[in-house]
Amino acid sequence: MQPIEEWIRTNLDVEWTNSATLRYAAMDHQAPPDLGGVYRDYTPERVDDWIDLTLIMAYLAALGTTGRILDVGTGDGWPALPLAPYVDRVVGIDATSKRINTAEANRARRGHENVEFRHAACEQIPFPTHSFDGAVAGTAIEQAVDPGACLREIYRVLKRGGALVATVEHLAGELGERSEQQVELFQRGDRFWYRYAVKEPAPPREVEYLVEINPDPQLEATAAAFPHRSGFTRRKGEPGMQPLTSAIAAACGLPLLEQVRDKIVRTRGFELHHYTVASLRQALTAAGFSRVQIRGPITRIASRCFIGLHESGTLPHLRPWFAHICRGLAEAWAEVPAEESSLLFIRARKET
Ligand SMILES: C[S@@+](CC[C@H](N)C(=O)[O-])C[C@H]1O[C@@H](n2cnc3c(N)ncnc32)[C@H](O)[C@@H]1O
Repeated sequence: MQPIEEWIRTNLDVEWTNSATLRYAAMDHQAPPDLGGVYRDYTPERVDDWIDLTLIMAYLAALGTTGRILDVGTGDGWPALPLAPYVDRVVGIDATSKRINTAEANRARRGHENVEFRHAACEQIPFPTHSFDGAVAGTAIEQAVDPGACLREIYRVLKRGGALVATVEHLAGELGERSEQQVELFQRGDRFWYRYAVKEPAPPREVEYLVEINPDPQLEATAAAFPHRSGFTRRKGEPGMQPLTSAIAAACGLPLLEQVRDKIVRTRGFELHHYTVASLRQALTAAGFSRVQIRGPITRIASRCFIGLHESGTLPHLRPWFAHICRGLAEAWAEVPAEESSLLFIRARKET
């Protein structure tokens, strides 16, 4: 265990909660604000849209149906909304009402009449047995409190012959042998908030803590100096997580926690036990699925292909065949090796 996590566990009374409450309910936006298929149409003018649309087409190819699809842990509506033009109906569920409200606003703005969103946990899916032709999930199953129960529920609501197609975060591929620590310090009102997160590859686990600290004049300067990330932030006015470099650790590591120990009023946390390729296969099989395929995501091939075509100046000539080319390349989804990949792409069937 990393020293900061050890300090938190030893010295603070952690209230354990889940990622939906502590992370996803606290985000203004979960999806990037210009994500294709969610906030705007895909366009062949953007090379990233060639890559993203290929992934959506891979979901479709692996599903093998255009019927009624369940999207588990939809967040702001991905992949539910980009799939909508290609299937009869999509139902997205998420355990966070804030995400469901955002997904519904995105749906209304994009005018998809064949999509609905429901506030529900994936461990108790509020639909009858055998009610969906297919199910999808974008890095959501592993965020659940009980991923095994989530897989059993997906299996239950699928019709016989239906498939689950999902991306799953793969920490061994993402991290190699290293651990990743991130930290954030900010002031909201007169309180201070210290967020600390760790990802470790073996065993693959992720943990995040949010420490609430009473007013402290010394902390004011440290929080004001905390570097802002230019990209994604959780909420407007917050700086965003930073890797725990030695400079950040000097300002916001153990000495800071020791300094404010008596002013800490509340600590919440959640822990995720991520899958390896082997444990994911085992979990899918235990839930009842068969013909389990675990691969890397088609985006690995699509990005090499389309960035190469973009850099050689060829991509603009291919624009008239945008969707056709993405659909064609997506057919190769089963050829991408899983091992080195930070994201797994899975298909598993409920036998007829
Ligand atoms: C990494 S986000 C992915 C969101 C979206 N699918 C995407 O790819 O952009 C994980 C999502 O799972 C949701 N989630 C976490 N635990 C859940 C649970 N037990 N049941 C349903 N959704 C859950 C979170 O609220 C969050 O929106």
